[in-house]
Amino acid sequence: MIEQKKRIQSFARRRMTFGMSQKQRSLIAGFLPTITITPENCMDKLKDAAEVHFEIGFGNGEHLYGMAEQNPNAMFIGCEPFVKGVSQALGAIEEKQLGNVLIYMDDARDLLDAMPAASIDYLYILFPDPWPKARHHKRRIINQELLRLAHTKLKPNGTLVAASDHEDYAEWILEHVVQSGLYAVKSSNKADWQLEPAAWVPTKYEAKAKSIGSNIYYYTLPKI
Ligand SMILES: C[S@@+](CC[C@H](N)C(=O)[O-])C[C@H]1O[C@@H](n2cnc3c(N)ncnc32)[C@H](O)[C@@H]1O
Repeated sequence: MIEQKKRIQSFARRRMTFGMSQKQRSLIAGFLPTITITPENCMDKLKDAAEVHFEIGFGNGEHLYGMAEQNPNAMFIGCEPFVKGVSQALGAIEEKQLGNVLIYMDDARDLLDAMPAASIDYLYILFPDPWPKARHHKRRIINQELLRLAHTKLKPNGTLVAASDHEDYAEWILEHVVQSGLYAVKSSNKADWQLEPAAWVPTKYEAKAKSIGSNIYYYTLPKI
């Protein structure tokens, strides 16, 4: 058996179930298994999907289920290891009766690795953990390895969408994307990326950042 490569952890919280209601616990135990996608079953789950959106680190899922609601003919895959966030997203997915959302409650990179090449239309990384201390920068999920992996899995006309309210991380994202040479970059100045994309569904972090007056950078990066 091939031993799985040990990844540097890019998330801080995971199996924390503290503060979850009985309803949230039962969504995890009962509903989640019915909409779970895994590295083993992803080919099968996506065989009929005409358009695929893949979100890394959906938090409480506002963008994931909001976009799924707006685009009923596309399939949305959300990855998030934080159980409480997943349970909140499940509550909304169930309430809205969305049949086009699949969840992977673990490290998105394991699922992304297993996805077929050229299978994703949009790949979102919204407000990734900034890991602000220099010694933690290696934990930032956006790095050359991830940009190469995403490029392989995006369709020829696919798009990587990233957003951040953290000045240093926003700079880091742009530098790494430009350096990769794998995506079309309209400007290498982050100040030119503050326009919210059309039909955008804001996330919890975004709303909080806006409420305290932070600049938000939205990178929409077509695959070259
Ligand atoms: C700062 S939060 C932002 C959440 C959400 N995108 C939003 O804007 O509200 C970053 C999220 O990314 C998740 N995350 C970090 N590394 C991840 C990984 N490798 N795979 C999946 N999720 C990850 C964390 O658990 C956390 O919930």
